[in-house]
Amino acid sequence: MNYLGMKRNDVSRTVSQLNLLLANYHVYYQNLRNFHWNVNGENFFDLHDKFEELYDEARTKIDEIAERILTLRLRPLSKMSDYLNTAAVNEADSFSSDREMVDVILENHKILIENMREVIRAADEVGDEGTIDMIGGFLSSLEKKSWMLDAWRVKVEQPATV
Ligand SMILES: [Fe+2]
Repeated sequence: MNYLGMKRNDVSRTVSQLNLLLANYHVYYQNLRNFHWNVNGENFFDLHDKFEELYDEARTKIDEIAERILTLRLRPLSKMSDYLNTAAVNEADSFSSDREMVDVILENHKILIENMREVIRAADEVGDEGTIDMIGGFLSSLEKKSWMLDAWRVKVEQPATV
């Protein structure tokens, strides 16, 4: 039993998923910085700002995930090479259209959301409410951001002229 009253074996599966989430978040973070710098076109001002807002939030989440792993008394992955070798999120190209960039970020969100659900399933099996509470908050927040990005890319139909 550790100082939280949990067995090391019980938390190890949750921590594997949290380390995967940490790796996925790092690649996602850099994809957002890439797009913040390289976006062009008529939506520049909207997307330049939106990508910055998203990477600022990702930076905070990255720290919270790593410190949750430490709270569980295990070690977070800490090297960029480990993140690239572990992550399911792929590095994005720099030269994409604004619409393609939003598509990529929504795909990244899908991977992060599925990863978060796996963290919650693993934590639920061992009654790790602290992890469930933290990741549950991240999950609903990211789902809402996905809705907004999806709404952005919906092509609005022109109203019928009379
Ligand atoms: Fe900037």
